[in-house]
Amino acid sequence: MKTKNLALFASGTGSNALSIIQHFEGNPKVNVAFILCNKTTAPIVERAKSLHQRVILCTNAEVEQPHFLVNLCKENEIDLIILAGFLRKIPTNLILAYPEKIINIHPSLLPKFGGAGMYGAHVHQAVKDANEKETGISIHYVSEEFDTGRIIAQFSVLLNSQDTIVTIQKKVQKLEQIHFARIIEQEIVENGK
Ligand code: GAR
Repeated sequence: MKTKNLALFASGTGSNALSIIQHFEGNPKVNVAFILCNKTTAPIVERAKSLHQRVILCTNAEVEQPHFLVNLCKENEIDLIILAGFLRKIPTNLILAYPEKIINIHPSLLPKFGGAGMYGAHVHQAVKDANEKETGISIHYVSEEFDTGRIIAQFSVLLNSQDTIVTIQKKVQKLEQIHFARIIEQEIVENGK
């Protein structure tokens, strides 16, 4: 199998991006080509650099330019794009250039608590406000509408009335650390992505 080149897009802390980097370290079949980040002060920038990863910083205006992301990914021969807490909308032409080759992680059991404005703690707040008995993660392909692409895998965790936004977030992060990189590897190895 030809080595697959991954691009990781991240905007924040980067716990998902880091676990993906660590998961594929030393794997000759998967190469993390770069981490793209749209926030200069995001913790992922220094954390990825400390692991000797190439970090590409971009502006929100660049993300919205029609050809910026497509050119960047094509020039770097990217096979698969991973949205690891990337909070900008992915432009349509990148989705068309990478059909079912862009994977997102969302911190709820889609279709519940997805859509515009639903990210990070906003999702956990909505879950808490709705008195949900469970929450979880959805790993899915990216389509033109927020959080509606084909779901690859979902994992759930039980909630109780004592749970706060912080404990819900911790439960969800635990699922992300256990499953995200493993599911990406499964898509590459078993489904030829
Ligand atoms: C993660 O919980 C991820 O599921 C979520 O942002 C967090 C990023 O954390 N993504 C979304 O809400 C996308 N709508 P990280 O920067 O530590 O990986």
